[in-house]
Amino acid sequence: MQSRMKPHLFYTFLTIFAATAVVTLLALTGKVTVVEGYLGWLVSAFLVESAGAVIALFRGAKFFEEPPERHAPHPLKLSAANQNDSETLRLPALKGGWMLCFIGQKQGEILNAVFSGLRKPFSATGDGKEFSSGLAYWGIIPTWNWIAACQDPKYPVMERGLKHFERVRPDILAQLGKPFHYVSLGVGDGRIDSKLLGALPIPPRALYYFPIDFSPEMLRMGIEPVRTFAEPGRREVVPIQLDFAEREYAGELRQMVEQFVNSDPVLFGLVGNTLANFEDDTQLLKTIPSLLRPQDRLLLGISFTDQLSGELATRAADEYRHSKRFARFLTSAVLQNTDLSLGQGSLQFEGTVETEKALFVKMFFRNKSGKNLRFRLPEGEPVQFPKDDTIRLYVSRKYLRQSLRTMLKKADLEVAWSDYYTYDTASSFGSAIMLVKKAK
Ligand SMILES: C[S@@+](CC[C@H](N)C(=O)[O-])C[C@H]1O[C@@H](n2cnc3c(N)ncnc32)[C@H](O)[C@@H]1O
Repeated sequence: MQSRMKPHLFYTFLTIFAATAVVTLLALTGKVTVVEGYLGWLVSAFLVESAGAVIALFRGAKFFEEPPERHAPHPLKLSAANQNDSETLRLPALKGGWMLCFIGQKQGEILNAVFSGLRKPFSATGDGKEFSSGLAYWGIIPTWNWIAACQDPKYPVMERGLKHFERVRPDILAQLGKPFHYVSLGVGDGRIDSKLLGALPIPPRALYYFPIDFSPEMLRMGIEPVRTFAEPGRREVVPIQLDFAEREYAGELRQMVEQFVNSDPVLFGLVGNTLANFEDDTQLLKTIPSLLRPQDRLLLGISFTDQLSGELATRAADEYRHSKRFARFLTSAVLQNTDLSLGQGSLQFEGTVETEKALFVKMFFRNKSGKNLRFRLPEGEPVQFPKDDTIRLYVSRKYLRQSLRTMLKKADLEVAWSDYYTYDTASSFGSAIMLVKKAK
């Protein structure tokens, strides 16, 4: 309203000014006759209006204008590594809480994958409706709860892997023997990555660290422990959101990484027993050779067992059963994507044996209300959830040592170095860390 008034006032003033000027000039030159005594008033009005116009013009004009101040959210500058003639891509250095991130997938696609998992038919055994691998971590609440679960002394799986990693880190570095860039396949809470990055030697141009994750929120939180190491021109952080299990994305990831590092060797990390979370873990291993060039290595961190039995499978399930924080992580995917209440169901942890391969732990939510229920997906679609139906939330494994070597061989991968640490002698459960290369 105020802005529309301004032109009206301007043109009204201009008209009065012009009229006063014309009448005054005509009267002064004797072209028109003005009633005696009014000519003085006319001249005064004309002079006052002229003075007003001049003052207004002076006030509007900025004779000594300073260049406008730019309020960038945080200072941006090109990294030193890119100021010389290097052929690597240029990255701005972001200070404070900023993160530059490549998003590979439409979030709608991921939401659709969640919906189709939840529309699957009835299964009383956790083999119908599901959050398939990776989807259980997707979104802010699951991310948040995952990070809390990793810190829970009652869920020691991640902590043990971390301790083992710290113990063998000097051996890993000695085996690598030269600087490597690092691509973390599934960043999680970022603790292992930060332990590695602090120790990796810096390649001549810079060390590029690529945290990869399905969940943008996981990337955001997972790079926090690494921020202290990020140093423009020395250690560059390039987060990438994508599903590394999709062969197509794996190809794109490799191309993208190569654009930054050229032919420098790259270490890919699949640690924290992430491989075991994939229903089709064999298929995932088969995508790894499409990432690795002869000079690259895969750092594989998994859980192992020396034997397979029903009793051991139940023990493996017990490692997850007793942590409230882990349970909160599991159910957060249900709460985020349906309108079910936790009181309507119960969490079940079931350990079985995968013949000659692994102890397999399946975790699912069962309709225990005694009634046929119906839940809604976030966009409103109703889904039948009959009595005793299940939603599979998460799977994990402990691999038989020998079976892992066979799986790697079948995927055209070869173990270059390995270390097995048994943390529970009664069950013979342990953590294995390996350096793997593409078979010749
Ligand atoms: C078991 S956590 C391990 C995290 C970390 N490497 C560690 O050792 O603490 C698995 C991580 O992989 C991510 N993830 C799982 N499936 C994925 C997929 N298909 N593509 C990308 N990220 C995935 C999850 O979001 C999660 O951050």
